[in-house]
Amino acid sequence: MARSTTVERADSKARVREAILKDVQRITEIHNQGIVDRESVLDITPYPLNQRLAWFKSLSSREAVLVADMGGCVVGFSALQPFSQDDVYSHIGVATIWVEKDFRGQGLGRKLAEKVFAAARKKGFKKLMFFAYYFNREKLGFYKRLGYEEAGMLRRHAKIKDKLVDVLVMEYLL
Ligand SMILES: CC(C)(COP(=O)(O)OP(=O)(O)OC[C@H]1O[C@@H](n2cnc3c(N)ncnc32)[C@H](O)[C@@H]1OP(=O)(O)O)[C@@H](O)C(=O)NCCC(=O)NCCS
Repeated sequence: MARSTTVERADSKARVREAILKDVQRITEIHNQGIVDRESVLDITPYPLNQRLAWFKSLSSREAVLVADMGGCVVGFSALQPFSQDDVYSHIGVATIWVEKDFRGQGLGRKLAEKVFAAARKKGFKKLMFFAYYFNREKLGFYKRLGYEEAGMLRRHAKIKDKLVDVLVMEYLL
């Protein structure tokens, strides 16, 4: 008789919780791996741990860092920050989400997103947004799946190695 085996997905094994100081090392490792692999849009150079520790210690009440904790091991994180310090934009947040390579495609990104959206609402944000390079738009599938929409394009908006490139504005209404 054939036996069926069910492999439990990471999202059902992980719990998303607020990050604590000792998580910063894993957060930095996950983020830096993405930077080395050129997955990051903005960052080119890996972060030194002491810089990330200083960042974590200086978080304001409008920021949040969440981690996906699987049996005591951090396998992903999400960070929320205001889009701008200007009052007129104070309702806009930016949420970044990173999942350890080996654990992708198992619902952790969505789980982190749902929790960070809830944290953003609680902190009074009304929308989330981010800028994406137009030439990278095929990489936006995850965000579109979450409900982000293309809000428009800014021409010649980012300078990469002296070349001006178009930037897509992505937004999500909370
Ligand atoms: C983007 C990222 C966070 C997705 O995490 P993940 O755990 O693999 O995502 P999930 O398994 O939760 O997928 C959530 C949904 O998005 C979809 N999805 C995930 N990656 C996708 C992609 N590249 N293109 C299209 N859809 C995608 C999944 O099919 C899933 O859809 P469903 O829930 O409706 O079935 C992860 O790939 C990552 O860390 N990438 C590097 C960092 C990065 O680019 N972060 C975004 C910039 S801040």
